[in-house]
Amino acid sequence: MKISIARRQVSLNSIVVGGLFFLVTGLIFFIYSVDFSPLILVALLLIYAKFLRKIEKLPSYLDLAILSAIAVVVSLLTTATFKISGYGIPVIGFVILITLLFDDLELSLLFSIFVAFLGASVDGGNFNVGMSLFAGSLAAAILSFRVRRRFQIIRAGILAGLVQFLVAFIIERDLSFFIASAMDLNLLKICFVNGALSAGIALTFLPIFEYVFKVVTNVSLLELSDFNHPLLRRLILEAPGTYQHSLVVANLSEAAAESIGSNSLLARVGAYYHDIGKMEKPNYFVENLIGYKDVHKDLKPSMSKLIIINHVKEGVDLAKKYRLNPKIIDFITQHHGRTLVYYFYHRAKELEPEAEHEEEYRYPGPRACNKEAAIVGLADTIEAQSRTLEEPTPSRIEEMVKDVVKKRFMEGELDESDLTLKDLEKITQSFIRVLNAIFHTRVNYPREEA
Ligand SMILES: [Fe+2]
Ligand SMILES: [Fe+2]
Repeated sequence: MKISIARRQVSLNSIVVGGLFFLVTGLIFFIYSVDFSPLILVALLLIYAKFLRKIEKLPSYLDLAILSAIAVVVSLLTTATFKISGYGIPVIGFVILITLLFDDLELSLLFSIFVAFLGASVDGGNFNVGMSLFAGSLAAAILSFRVRRRFQIIRAGILAGLVQFLVAFIIERDLSFFIASAMDLNLLKICFVNGALSAGIALTFLPIFEYVFKVVTNVSLLELSDFNHPLLRRLILEAPGTYQHSLVVANLSEAAAESIGSNSLLARVGAYYHDIGKMEKPNYFVENLIGYKDVHKDLKPSMSKLIIINHVKEGVDLAKKYRLNPKIIDFITQHHGRTLVYYFYHRAKELEPEAEHEEEYRYPGPRACNKEAAIVGLADTIEAQSRTLEEPTPSRIEEMVKDVVKKRFMEGELDESDLTLKDLEKITQSFIRVLNAIFHTRVNYPREEA
């Protein structure tokens, strides 16, 4: 069974297992007053992560160990330096960072358990501190999941601080004395400042952690989607046809990613940048040919093929020059996978029917390594083919989309992308819907005579 939290499906199993894990270990901790040293906590976290096996790609065990060690050091330092109780440890910021960096609520749940134990342990085995930190961290994870703007992170931190206070307020007192005291006000102040400060710390360190863990967060993606980015401005001016093509690919990819619950903003931004390499020789690409002569007419197919394939390499060079995040560079290298430069392959075949050209006329790869890159690759071909449809009726569009997806699947291009057949069906339907909407708006209605 799955439940939906913040537009994300989380397996109920892992929440139940996580909750049980927390309660049982907490109970042992409480009854026997076991002192959980930070090292034991780290080990517990890693074992539990391994047990769940939910996080195969990111983060690695080394990343987990680094993150846990940072949390331990920060917790020990804050309590020792500022002489505050466990309630003031800025673990909410830590969980916000994990949520933004790794985009996985289950992983955030694990870290919430971890920081709860850590806080309780640092505060001399205070179970109440553990419970309230756990509630605050979990709230922070849910509230900061897939947020795109900085103020949403600050809001998540403050609200999580309030949740932390509420839980502490309830469990710290005998319920018959439900009157606010000076101690409660002090607690409220600590939790509120902790929440706000945590969010601030998370925001400050986000770019550094993005670099270290080689990930890209929605906050950075939104900045990259701004058309004032120097690379996108150049694309608009130097290769306007490619820019238009990239916009349609972005719309197709975003909707498709949304339909299967993968990262739609990543797919959109990846599509914006996938063909930047074409800026080096824009006139050699069909979408920029309007008004120009066909430059390929005087070239050998092998030469044309070289220029076409080279847009991938040139794209990577440009991306590195402008310091684009490696996650975006993946879209540049993977959007053609190992597919064939079909048009020039056939021209070569016409000229020399006997020769074996196929391998020479393939893109070097690699194939798409994640769902979003595979979607952009599919949308790229579908957009190009849609422009060749003479009469784009709904049935022709459907036939073309199904054909492209089937062919890509049969060629093994989607093998490393983690896409399931169910995903492919949803993606296909989404492409058909968006293309129909695009072509519907392009219908020429007869002009009204005055
Ligand atoms: Fe391309
Ligand atoms: Fe493209």
